[in-house]
This record gives sequence, structure tokens and C-alpha cells, in this order.
Amino acid sequence: MLDETVQQQLLDQARRARETAYAPYSNFKVGAAVLTAAGEIFSGCNIENASLGATICAERVAILTAVAAGHRDLTALAVVADTPDPVAPCGLCRQVLAEFSPDCRVLMANTAGRIRLANLKELLPLAFRWPPPKSGEGG
Ligand code: THU
Repeated sequence: MLDETVQQQLLDQARRARETAYAPYSNFKVGAAVLTAAGEIFSGCNIENASLGATICAERVAILTAVAAGHRDLTALAVVADTPDPVAPCGLCRQVLAEFSPDCRVLMANTAGRIRLANLKELLPLAFRWPPPKSGEGG
């Protein structure tokens, strides 16, 4: 379980990060924050580009910022956007998170304060692995 206070801190950081989103093309601002095993929080926002494929999601900015600071063991990720239902991370971000923390908790939220909690394993069963697992060890 995710401690209520820590959960609130993660959501606050994700909301704050969302304010710095650079999204002039989609006008869809996203904020994210990850909690490391050491208890530190790193946040990120989506950063778009005129070459649309160069856009990076908020979740990956948060994950990669934590990894670049030496933290690969991430226990929770929060993501917030202005959506009717709590926003779910895209498939690419799920795969990037699975690289480092396949058992991560994922806290999805909207700006209205609705939240939904899941485990990455539920959101990305059978994540791609390299080298490929031996027959029967893929799950
Ligand atoms: N986006 C995220 O930041 N996270 C996601 O999980 C899905 C999409 C961003 C990318 C782009 O800037 C905008 O939302 C619209 O796709």
C-alpha cells in the first residue's frame, strides 16, 4: 500500500509539474512524479516538439530524471491530466517503467481529484524483455 501522505505528495508534485508542460500543439498538459525506493520524488511534464515524434511524455521525463540521478528502483508513479476519468499512461511509458521497476504502483489521476490505483503488471502484462525469457518463463 502507498502511504496516504506520500500519495498526496506524489500527486502534488505531479500537479505542480503539469504547470510547466510545454504542449502548444495538443494543448494537453500532463504532469507526473515518481517515488524512489530511497523516498525521493522526481517529477516531469510533457514536452512537445514541432517534429511531433520528438515529443516526450510527462511520465518518461519523471522516470528518466530519476534514473539519471541514480535511482532505478521506483516504487510508485503518479500521472495527472485534465481528463474526465483518471489518465492512464501510454504504452511506451509503461514499457520504459517496466525496464526499471516492473512491480511499480501507478497512481492515475485527473485534475478534479479522482484517482485510480493499479500495478504496472496489470497495465503491462507480458512486457517485452531482452534477452527473451526462456520458454515458459515469459510471464
Ligand atoms: N502524453 C503524456 O505526457 N503522457 C501520456 O501517457 C500520454 C500522452 C502527452 C504527449 C503529448 O504531449 C500529449 O500528451 C498528447 O498526446
